[in-house]
Formats: sequence, structure tokens, C-alpha cells
Amino acid sequence: MPIHITPSDLLDPIERASRDEITALQLQRLRATLAHVYQNVPHYRKAFDDKGVHPDDLKTLKDLAQFPFTSKKDLRDNYPFGMFAVPKAQVARVHASSGTTGKPTVVGYTARDINNWADLVARSIRAAGGRAGDMIHVAYGYGLFTGGLGAHYGAERLGCTVVPMSGGQTEKQVQLIQDFKPRIIMVTPSYMQVIIEEFERQGLDPCASSLKIGIFGAEPWTEAMRSEIEAKAAMDAVDIYGLSEVMGPGVASECVESKDGPVIWEDHFYPEIIDPETGEPLPDGEEGELVFTSLTKEAFPVIRYRTRDLTRLLPPTSRSFRRIGKIVGRSDDMLIIRGVNVFPTQIEELVLQHEKLSAIYQMIVTREGRLDEVEVLTELQPTASALAGGDIANISHWLTQRIKTMVGISAKVTVLPPSAIERSQGKSRRVIDKRI
Ligand code: DLL
Repeated sequence: MPIHITPSDLLDPIERASRDEITALQLQRLRATLAHVYQNVPHYRKAFDDKGVHPDDLKTLKDLAQFPFTSKKDLRDNYPFGMFAVPKAQVARVHASSGTTGKPTVVGYTARDINNWADLVARSIRAAGGRAGDMIHVAYGYGLFTGGLGAHYGAERLGCTVVPMSGGQTEKQVQLIQDFKPRIIMVTPSYMQVIIEEFERQGLDPCASSLKIGIFGAEPWTEAMRSEIEAKAAMDAVDIYGLSEVMGPGVASECVESKDGPVIWEDHFYPEIIDPETGEPLPDGEEGELVFTSLTKEAFPVIRYRTRDLTRLLPPTSRSFRRIGKIVGRSDDMLIIRGVNVFPTQIEELVLQHEKLSAIYQMIVTREGRLDEVEVLTELQPTASALAGGDIANISHWLTQRIKTMVGISAKVTVLPPSAIERSQGKSRRVIDKRI
């Protein structure tokens, strides 16, 4: 496969700046961000005061370790807009991702935030080998999820032609790729595999398609998947990382010339790795939980946001910024099912809404072919043991619909007799993930 190296005159100057220049910029932006949240977000003012720290205490980047973490719970407690740092009239857009309960996590952007985001996704596509004039097929979902619109604005910013296909309708995905001949596709790696299979099902050779670059993310994937996709579809497969709370896709993104882990766009996000148990910062190279502080965000700045993603910080290679290794797991129980983030507590909340169901349930996650499948096992309350088959089918239908509407996934729901689900001796095993 050809090696493409981005000509250095195409790079933003900061992408090849010295460490000192990067650190100086980070420090200046970090100070401004701390002052901004202290002034404008009651949650941060209180959290800083409770910890006895003030934005002026930050003299060096290391001093950030004295500041409190931010977690998904803080966002939930301030639902929907309590963590916003600008008046609502200045918020140009909101997105949302799964919360641990029925309430989603809401994030907001000013026009300037969206502008920066577009720049960073454009930078990410360029790092993947994309150039102005390329056609890009975007098969990340559009809507509240940040994937579709995030990719879209970045592709436009780079000067590409965007096909805003969104997810689903696999046959049509293939048809449009065949007819429009995009050079780049942006999609989750697991759905790329489904698209490749659809090519084969239609008797088409995926290697002969126009696609030369795939920018894959939103879920964990392995080097083995990279090799498989590259071999089956004759394309370069690169990794893009991000999360809604920090921005969306393009917090970090891989360079095609090295394919050695996403480069963190450190001029906009300050990374730390911490021990998930003690919260202590760990040195570069050690595995722990990734934490981000935003450096330029106006509407929804985050201070030491605990991503729950487990990985390592790696030294710079193709750019001046540090990289992250593959995400090797999470320090919470979030699952990613067909690209949708799912917390078992979301399912639990819905099960508990039905008076005939007991609070005991189990989620079984499998991968049938390429697609994730979920079965939710529930059981009747002892008082409901005499229910007729039709009533049971109604309960199952009700829960299936609720899960589809509230969580956004299609699950098979099985309603069992009272006490049918195995009781555990210690910690209950709510999730059986057979994909790993
Ligand atoms: O998934 C944003 C995104 C869209 C990234 C498109 C890349 C491409 P959320 O829905 O908030 O945002 O989910 C964020 O997804 O904390 C990780 O656990 C996981 N994740 C995202 N990218 C990767 C990746 C988007 N490249 C959560 N590798 C994150 C592994 C990833 N996991």
C-alpha cells in the first residue's frame, strides 16, 4: 500500500511546533478556561471552592492535578444545560449522548466551538490522507450523535464533497458508493465490515471499489480488524477517537503514514492518564483512565473529564503532539452496541417501570456475523406467575419498544417465570458480553 506523508506546508504550524511552544499555548489556554468556568458555571465554582483551589493557583500544567475531576454524574446532576458556560442565546447547537439513566448527557457549542470542531475534523481527515476535492461518504449517524454532523462539517471545511448518507440502509450504502465513487468513508469499523459483506453479497469485489481511505471510530477496534478491512477492501484504515462530552469525533486522530494510534490535538485538549482507583496522575506510557480538559471550548468547557476509557499516552511521532494507544477497555460498565453507547442501568430503569417484572434482569450481548445482538432476560414478579402467554408477549413487546425508543437499540426481550434468572452469590452479573 502506498505511504502518504502529509506535506508539511499543509499542516497547521502547531502540528509541528516544539514541545515548549505547545506547553506555553496549553498553559495560556488552560488558565483562560479555568477562569471562564469559575466565573460562569456554578458547578465548577463550587467544586473548586470545595477543594480549596482557585484558577490563579495554576502556575504550571502540573498544577491541574489539584483541580477536581468532572464525571458523567456531574453532567446528569446539572441536566440539561447547567454546565453550559455561556448564555443560551449564544449556544448554536446541542448534541446528546447516553447517560447512565433515561436522561441523556447534553452538550452545547457556540458558533466558535463548531468552527474549531470543523477545523479539527478537517485536520483529522487530512492526517488520514484526505485532501480538498475528495468525495467523502459519511455513514456515521446524523442527529443527536456527534458522529455524522461532526464528520460532515470537518469534511466540508477541508474542501471535500460530502455524501451525508448516515447509518443504516446497507444496500443503499453500497449502491451510492458504487455510483458516486467516494475516495473516503467515515463509519464505525463494525459497520464497515457489514458494508464489505454487502458488497460480497451483491457479487461485487470490495477491493475494486473507489474507497481508498476509511476513517473509523466511535467504538473500540483492534489491529486485527484493521488488517482485515485493509486486506478485504484495499484501503488504508485509520482510527479516529472522540467523545461528545469533550467535543465529538476528532479529539484525536491517526496519521496514515504511521498508523500508530490517534494523535491528540493537544492545542485544544489537555490529556492526563490517571489511576482509575486512586485518581492519581500516571506517567506517560502507563495504562490508566484517560482524562481530558478542554482548552478552547466556550459553551461546554470540561475540566478533568473522566472519559472512563482505558489507554496510554504515547510520545509524538508523525506530529508534535502525543498519541493515545488503542482503547483497551473502560473503567465503567458502558457497552457500545452497533455504535450506540448503552449503560446497563438504562435497561434496568425500564425493566423497573413494569409492575409485573422483577428487578432482576440480564443482558446477553453477542455478535452474529458482524452485527451486535442483545437479548434482555427478565422475569415475572412472583405475584404475576399465573399470567397467560398473551400477557407475557405484551410485556415483552412493551419492553422491546421502550428499549428501542429510550436507549436506541433493538433488543430481543425474553420474559421468564419468577426466579428463573440465576442469583449470584456475590456481585450480580447483569451483563454477559460474549463478543470478547
Ligand atoms: O463516539 C464520537 C465519535 C464519533 C468518535 C465518530 C469517533 C467517530 P460518544 O457517542 O460520546 O462519541 O462515545 C464516546 O466512544 O468514550 C469511547 O468509549 C468510544 N470511542 C470513540 N471513538 C473510539 C475509538 C463518539 N476510536 C465513546 N476507539 C468514547 C475506541 C472509541 N473507542
